[in-house]
This record gives sequence, structure tokens and C-alpha cells, in this order.
Amino acid sequence: MIQKTHRLLITGGAGYIGSHIVMALKDTGASVLVVDNLSTGFRENLHYGDCVVLDLADRDRLNRCFHDFKPDAVLHIAGSIVVPESVRDPITYYYNNTMNSLNVIDACLNNRIGHFLFSSTAAVYGIPPEGICAESAPLCPINPYGHTKAMTERMLADTAEASSLRYVALRYFNVAGAHPSLQLGQRMPDATHLIKIIAQVITQKRASLSVFGTDYPTPDGTCIRDYIHVCDLADAHVRALDWLLSGGKSLTLNCGYSRGFSVNEVIKTAEDLYGPFPVTAADRRPGDPPQLIANADRIRSTLNWTPRYDGLSRIIQSAVEFEKSLL
Ligand code: UFG
Repeated sequence: MIQKTHRLLITGGAGYIGSHIVMALKDTGASVLVVDNLSTGFRENLHYGDCVVLDLADRDRLNRCFHDFKPDAVLHIAGSIVVPESVRDPITYYYNNTMNSLNVIDACLNNRIGHFLFSSTAAVYGIPPEGICAESAPLCPINPYGHTKAMTERMLADTAEASSLRYVALRYFNVAGAHPSLQLGQRMPDATHLIKIIAQVITQKRASLSVFGTDYPTPDGTCIRDYIHVCDLADAHVRALDWLLSGGKSLTLNCGYSRGFSVNEVIKTAEDLYGPFPVTAADRRPGDPPQLIANADRIRSTLNWTPRYDGLSRIIQSAVEFEKSLL
């Protein structure tokens, strides 16, 4: 279990997901150090622990930081996360995700840090044949983003084989929503994620929503995703850390609710809550698989993880409430 005496270092802790994890760690009383270059993170997201502004590409400073803080565990959450951007600019993704992850793993080895939590993604699966993936499914990414994360998973597995490092790789499905306190949420005004954009349209910060592709091989022709509330995801991290710090073996775990919604179903749910808003059909977006749904049996049974914020309406409402708070 995480104790007050534990020292936890979290990269990307000022970002959308990282800040929710830090907030969840606050309840444990552990010492937390956020390492973030604030490129997509925000100081407003920091409500607990200390923060060092540092770019993970700076290996010397990174190693010094690990040496000085002496963490019991590292949570590596920092990274670039936009699938279409990774298609346009793969090199940036290989630097920010794969190379910087290598630097973080290397700094762990240099400083004898044996517990590692990694923020991976459902994008490692590519186009799973049935659209529903268990962790044992082959990794066949169809976009650079997925490749960068799959490569880091490989580096972790190889490193764990060759050292005493143990890790948990959490494969996130589609993360959305905001903290119930509304202190935290997706702040990026130019974010590209569906539920964020819907919240911006509903609060009249954007004129309309484009539906990227209406001719996919799905029942209504739009892509299907498994949307998970960011607070349930944060809780999965706390449980995964408990697991590692209690001596658990290395694991790879899907983080989703095992239920898929099409883009049209997400729009319908939002319109039922807030009334109609402008929607236009657009071309497919490069790199989008038709359907991604988690088989989440493993995380439920291994970590005893039970979602508390399950429900698409609830996720959308929380995103809209947060968006209003940004007005
Ligand atoms: N979409 C639209 N219009 C928009 C935005 C999105 O139609 O304006 C569609 C996309 O084409 C896709 C679906 O909504 O079909 C979800 O798209 P998002 O951009 O919200 O999310 P992605 O599925 O592309 O990617 C997210 C994370 C990744 C993660 C992936 C796992 O960004 O890190 O979920 O499913 F890997």
C-alpha cells in the first residue's frame, strides 16, 4: 500500500490526466514531486506536492532530479497524445514519447528505482478484429502515436527482464470528464478530443462539431470508442501503485468500461442533456480505427478496480460543467 513515507515522482503531473492522479494521491499523504515542462500542462492544475519544471529530454537534469528526490516509484504520464497530430508529425512523437520514455527508464535504472507506472494507450491495438481487445491481443498500431507507446512498453518489458524494475503499463481507452470539484479538467482550448469539443460547442466556444467519417463498418457508420471518466482512471493508478509497492509483479492492464459508444451516440446523449447543437459530416481523420472497446476483466480482478463514475451522460455533464467554469 502507498504510505505517507513514500516518495512518488510523476512526469506530466500538471497535465489533464496527470493532475487528476496527483489529486488522487493527495489522499494517501505520500510525498509527490511533479516533473513537467508545462508545454501542455498548467500551473493551475497543481494542488498537491512540489513541481520541478524540467524537459525529459534533458537527461542530466532528469538524473539529478531523480537522484535528489529519491523516489520509491515513478509514474510516467508525460507525453504527446493526439493521434492525427502524430500522423502529421511523427518525429516529434518519437522524441516526446519514445525517446523521453527511454530517458525516464534509464534514470530509474541509474538511481535504482524499482517501481514504474506507465501511461500507455489502446492505440497499441490498431484495428482489433472484433473491436474488443484483451491485453493478450497482438499489438498492431495503425498510427505513430500507437507505435511510440508500444515501443515504450517493449522497452519496459526488456528492462524488467534484465533488472529488478517492476512496472504496470495502463492502456487508456478514451479518457474524458473532469474532477467533481471542477478544480481540474481538460483546459487546452485547442484540444481535439470529441467530448471536449462537444463541451466547447455546448458552451458556445466553438461554432460546430465535425463528425470525422460516417462510412465506417459500424452500425451507424461512425467510430466507436470506450469512454472512461478521468477520476476512475486516476483511481486505477493509485491501485496499480499499491500493487507494485506491495510486491506485485509487472502487469499490463486495459483501462476502460468495456462499453462502446459511436460518435453519433455520444452526440445524441449530449443533445438529450443540453438540446441540439450544430453538427456537420466530414471526411475520415487519418489514423482512426473504427472501433476500440476494452476487455477490462484483468484490471477488475487484479486490482479490484470498480468504476465509480461510469455513465456517458455523467462524463459529458462533468466535461460541460468544467467547460462552463472556464468561461
Ligand atoms: N471525432 C470526431 N470529431 C471531433 C473529434 C473526434 O468525429 O471533432 C471522432 C474521432 O474521429 C474518433 C472519436 O471521435 O472517431 C474519438 O476521437 P478522439 O479524438 O476523442 O480520441 P481518439 O480515439 O482519437 O484518441 C483517444 C486518445 C488516445 C487514445 C485513444 C484510445 O487521444 O490517446 O483515445 O482509444 F489512444
